[in-house]
Amino acid sequence: MYRYAIIGFGGLGKLHLINLLRLESERKGELKLCAICGADKETVLRNVSLNLGTVDISDVDFSECNFYTDYKELIEKERPDFILSALPTYLHEEAAVYALSKGVHVFSEKPMALTVKSCDNIIEAAKKNDRKLMIGQSLRFSPAILKLKEIVDNETYGKVCRYDFSRFSQTPTWSWNNWILNPELSGGCVMDLHIHDVDMVNWFFGKPKAVHAIGTSRKVPLENVIVRYDYDDVLVTGSADWSMSQKFPFNVRCIMNFERASAVVADGKLIIYTDDEVIEPELVNEKMHYLEIKAFVEMILDGKSCDEITTPESVRDSVRIVLAEVESIKTKKEVLIV
Ligand SMILES: NC(=O)c1ccc[n+]([C@@H]2O[C@H](COP(=O)([O-])OP(=O)(O)OC[C@H]3O[C@@H](n4cnc5c(N)ncnc54)[C@H](O)[C@@H]3O)[C@@H](O)[C@H]2O)c1
Repeated sequence: MYRYAIIGFGGLGKLHLINLLRLESERKGELKLCAICGADKETVLRNVSLNLGTVDISDVDFSECNFYTDYKELIEKERPDFILSALPTYLHEEAAVYALSKGVHVFSEKPMALTVKSCDNIIEAAKKNDRKLMIGQSLRFSPAILKLKEIVDNETYGKVCRYDFSRFSQTPTWSWNNWILNPELSGGCVMDLHIHDVDMVNWFFGKPKAVHAIGTSRKVPLENVIVRYDYDDVLVTGSADWSMSQKFPFNVRCIMNFERASAVVADGKLIIYTDDEVIEPELVNEKMHYLEIKAFVEMILDGKSCDEITTPESVRDSVRIVLAEVESIKTKKEVLIV
């Protein structure tokens, strides 16, 4: 029986719990929640609403789960086999390194960390202690994106000529102590929201040679970005913005133009337009957050690899690209990526 704990029990911690409880029932007797750690007892058991929808935990039976406010104490006392860390971003590095150094496998939310050096420290701790590590860049498990990646890699419609994406959100006012709106703690919209798409660019095309980004800090610091990525053979542009008004619906879209078709991913669907027909490929009927946690659990329980989809090293490159974009916004110059 593998025992696990969740550290950081806000929106994402609760979402992961729902998926883990489903896995507990699908893999009876193989894994069990032992403990949860949150910063304060009052907010821990509250339902939450986030831009991914409402997470309702009111029916969950917590009678065999212990609660902590200090994750180090949790790890010492409970000795879990693995943890899910959904802490605010500024705590990702210290919690992951601590858990790994205690021999615990770690799933840690995106962004991996706020600096490349911090990412290096997490990767080093996983290697040194021979523990599994996965970073929650969840789009890599989105059925629509996985299908698009397959189409890109197989050149089903020829080579990619152009890729453009956008991600618009109301200003996130729902985080614990408002940490998300402080760029020192979250990296701002560029590191928090936009990194989802940067990670896709990185996954599809590898690191660009350079980035040229612009952005503003009018409503909140580092609230948006518009960016051009330099590659030899494909045009790539994108944007993200969390300075939209509070009633603005969360809106995500990416468009890919191939030599022989044009594709759109929006609302979890992939639609392909050729000169003659419109195709909607059949997709795996599961949510990406369930699929990523399932993959992480299979890494630990079944020894499966998911290196083809995600590695900590590749995700670290996404942090590197975002940091170059931030530098470009600040210096108003193109920034080379090394
Ligand atoms: N992959 C995705 O789709 C996705 C979506 C949203 C957020 N995230 C990431 O998940 C992480 C958490 O985001 P969130 O929206 O759940 O934030 P949140 O503010 O809702 O939750 C953070 C939780 O951490 C707890 N916490 C703070 N300090 C703590 C400490 N020292 N010890 C224990 N608990 C502590 C708080 O009590 C709070 O409940 C962030 O890094 C964010 O970028 C990922």
